[in-house]
Amino acid sequence: MQKTLKIRKIALLTALSVLVIAGCGKKQGKEGKADQKNPAVAVDSAAVAGKKIPYALKEGKRLFSHYCAVCHGETGDGSGQYYGLTPSPANFTDKAFMKTLPDEKLFKAINEGSASVGKSNMCPPWGKSFHSEETEFIVAYIRTLTGS
Ligand code: HEC
Repeated sequence: MQKTLKIRKIALLTALSVLVIAGCGKKQGKEGKADQKNPAVAVDSAAVAGKKIPYALKEGKRLFSHYCAVCHGETGDGSGQYYGLTPSPANFTDKAFMKTLPDEKLFKAINEGSASVGKSNMCPPWGKSFHSEETEFIVAYIRTLTGS
């Protein structure tokens, strides 16, 4: 009788300690994850805040290829799949043209559409598709397309 009680007690204690250890392990695991997450975010925003390179340009390129290249062309020269559009899609590799487009105007044209900067309505407004930060990434990427 005494012996079985002792065994039960040991079994109970073992079960309890397993639970406690498991609980602690879980907690540590959670903390570990949070710790891993924060530096990652910090690195990302540091890269964006410091230089616009490389994350902003990489993301700008990805968005441009996905949403804009069909008209503006993969290299931005206006020779996309819908080349026959009138007027033709803006040529972002044209240095003289790009000089007439300050960042704010470029941003506005993308955000509110080409009609918002006094052009045709052939370029749709993208403001509802992108976060303003993403539009800035696209602007930064478009700036690289003149090759200078
Ligand atoms: C359906 C085809 C089409 C798509 C897709 C498109 N554009 Fe355009 N875009 C045009 C055309 C056409 C013009 C020229 C409008 C004009 O000159 O009247 C233009 C002009 C522009 C201009 C120049 C405005 C100016 O001041 O001359 C910018 C900037 C621009 N597009 C950015 C973008 C970006 C960024 C994307 C992708 C997010 C995009 N466009 C997607 C057709 C398109």
